[in-house]
Amino acid sequence: MIRSAIIGCGSYTPEKVMKNSDFEGVVETSDEWIVQRTGIRERHIAADGETTADLGEKAARAALDDAGITVDDLDLIICATSTPNNTFPATAVEIQNRLGMHHGAAFDSQAVCSGFVFALTTADQYIKTGQAKRVLVIGAETFSRLLDWSDRSTCVLFGDGAGAVVVEGVEGEGSSADRGILTCHLRSDGAHKEKLYVDGGPSTTGTVGHLRMQGREVFRHAVGMITDVIEAAYAATGLSSADLDWFVPHQANRRIIDASARKLDIADEKVVITVDRHGNTSAASIPLALCEAVRDGRIKRGDLVLLEAMGGGFTWGAILLRW
Ligand code: UT7
Repeated sequence: MIRSAIIGCGSYTPEKVMKNSDFEGVVETSDEWIVQRTGIRERHIAADGETTADLGEKAARAALDDAGITVDDLDLIICATSTPNNTFPATAVEIQNRLGMHHGAAFDSQAVCSGFVFALTTADQYIKTGQAKRVLVIGAETFSRLLDWSDRSTCVLFGDGAGAVVVEGVEGEGSSADRGILTCHLRSDGAHKEKLYVDGGPSTTGTVGHLRMQGREVFRHAVGMITDVIEAAYAATGLSSADLDWFVPHQANRRIIDASARKLDIADEKVVITVDRHGNTSAASIPLALCEAVRDGRIKRGDLVLLEAMGGGFTWGAILLRW
């Protein structure tokens, strides 16, 4: 059978770093509160005029270089983002053009913080059905542009960045020893919309709007939803936490990550953490963390890797793959 293997990855974070202490004087908060409640110490913030497509393009070029291919070898680009450059065209199409690709197709995928998991799952479907041989999957966000900078309960949590992977169809035997994506599980439930949403949009206010969140409510649902979908991935493959080499969760809050890992019996040393330096970069958080752990040599060929995310919608999902 055909499996979708990640053959290259790349990432980019804006130069400007905003530390927790930089919020003091902006809103009533402290480094101590932010670190204790979230694990976040700093985040990257896009410069004036620096856009989601700028970040996504840089991550995409790095992923193509890492894979040792050019856009001529690609069939499809999917960009996961909730902060597109324009309402339309899709940011993926803009990046496609900047990369000099004028064949194949490109589109955006919008599942907020679960965006990368949804986009990678979509890429897997294209590859497994033979519709595409190689897909570039990008997660790129400028969440700083959606924040209400007077709301201390949200503005300290998010950051900007982008990560990308190149996925290629490879032959597998259909066993969990295969290289590539072994199983994908997506969920959504719009009954939770009010807990995490943006209060604007082209068809409602005609404005971009600001992110609004009932943080405690999101937190209350997060661990249950995350563990539920990971257990579905284990059930589909016959694998368990004991088989895992690396857990690369969505980086929203260190306490959510720790509680999920504890509930699933995943050892601390298998968990990849970047939330301390990136904050929550929504759809970019998983590819940013994944690329970091690949680049520094932690994730190696043959390792079993678990990806997981949960975010606005609510949307949530998990992917098990062998590197
Ligand atoms: O991808 C999914 C995206 N979202 C998330 O994953 C977020 C999930 N939720 C969370 O991470 C946490 O709920 C937060 C970090 C947002 C908040 O932590 P919490 O422990 O749930 O705090 P809380 O909302 O219950 O607030 C506790 C107190 C409140 O004050 P009172 O009412 O007890 O007097 C808040 O007003 O902390 C106050 N507070 C702050 N204090 C200092 C809220 N934000 C801040 C702040 N600095 N930045």
